[in-house]
Amino acid sequence: MVMIEQVCVVGLGYIGLPTAALLAASGFRVLGADIDERVVATINQGLIHIVEPDLDGIVHKVVAEGSLSAATTAQPADVFMLCVPTPFHDGEGDPQPNIDYVLAATRAIAPLVRPGNLVILESTSPVGTTERIAEELQAAGVDIGQVHIAYCPERVLPGKILTELVENDRIVGGLTEAAASAVGSFYRHFVRGRVLETDARTAEMCKLTENSFRDLNIAFANELSVICDNQDIDVWKLIALANCHPRVNILQPGPGVGGHCIAVDPWFIVARDPQNARLIRQARLVNDGKTDWVVAKVREAAQAQQGAKIACLGLAFKPDIDDLRESPAMEVALALAEEGLETLNVEPNLSQHPDLSLVTIDEALEQADIVVILVRHRQFLDPGFSDRLAGKTVLDFCGALAQPV
Ligand SMILES: NC(=O)c1ccc[n+]([C@@H]2O[C@H](COP(=O)([O-])OP(=O)(O)OC[C@H]3O[C@@H](n4cnc5c(N)ncnc54)[C@H](O)[C@@H]3O)[C@@H](O)[C@H]2O)c1
Repeated sequence: MVMIEQVCVVGLGYIGLPTAALLAASGFRVLGADIDERVVATINQGLIHIVEPDLDGIVHKVVAEGSLSAATTAQPADVFMLCVPTPFHDGEGDPQPNIDYVLAATRAIAPLVRPGNLVILESTSPVGTTERIAEELQAAGVDIGQVHIAYCPERVLPGKILTELVENDRIVGGLTEAAASAVGSFYRHFVRGRVLETDARTAEMCKLTENSFRDLNIAFANELSVICDNQDIDVWKLIALANCHPRVNILQPGPGVGGHCIAVDPWFIVARDPQNARLIRQARLVNDGKTDWVVAKVREAAQAQQGAKIACLGLAFKPDIDDLRESPAMEVALALAEEGLETLNVEPNLSQHPDLSLVTIDEALEQADIVVILVRHRQFLDPGFSDRLAGKTVLDFCGALAQPV
């Protein structure tokens, strides 16, 4: 068993920083690396640059104790964990995975990697990325036969990251069985869930599969919502009734799928095998198409009431957060504004936005002729909220006003 004292976490964002803090609190000396000087300076002051419950307290503590420090370059360690972004390249055709950050981070650690070290990729990545890391290390002169390289995907839910980092089951995919075993033992130091060992390609595909499963099931609900609208059927009631079947569990429709995971990761599967990933690709198109459909429905309502003011309630990509990344609600609000419609945008979890002026719920409801509910924020679920919509045209795209069956 390799003795592990120092861990270098590369990339200190939503995943890397909580991981680094948890490791530091678990007894490791953690050296965080991030190319963003602002991030490094913030952490070294014991502060945080992201919103995540309870993270501030733990970062403050481990930095004060000296078990976590950050730098703009990676430092020698026993374990290297890569937690850098894996977006996709936008352009013509289907989106293609961008693993440039992973390769850059690998090149940055290569001169520091020594025999017996563990190199772990945590970023959501297309199949084969862990093998690419080994190739990069080898090209830089690392004897990869002496290094344990593995993929260990992150499955945490923002808002519950510190709990889920410890409680969730983890998949560890080694490039060799010895790597899976060594890296699995490392995770067992701080994970209370099961640590399940497999090979790297299976682990990479497993993470993508989990998010595609969600995407596909949401696409089913979104497709149903459009079909029901055409046939004058209340989709919320329909789904609630169908879910009374003991083996049916349909998810809820909405204005599309947002966030930087479910709306992105299925494309990593499609990019590797476009011929066969037909359902996965179609689900992405259905979910993206739902956003266009919502815009069209609002446009139709606005054409029926010339000069109407439109309240867009909710801009975040899911309820009760302030995160706008890939948010379909945001896309709807921007599309309506671009069409020259008069919109009143409400996001109770944000005080301002650089591109859209925000108003309070009260201001929006006072002025609006058409109310478009885009996100099931708790403020829109209050009993009595629907009474405040009397006399207005209401388009509820997230079931905020749906009655239980
Ligand atoms: N955020 C989540 O909820 C979540 C959940 C599961 C998986 N993931 C995956 O985890 C990975 C990281 O996501 P995130 O949300 O933490 O991203 P993030 O953007 O919050 O953080 C990434 C950090 O990496 C830094 N970085 C970029 N290139 C670097 C380099 N070469 N060297 C050092 N630092 C570098 C950036 O400056 C940034 O601070 C992604 O693959 C993502 O898909 C995220």
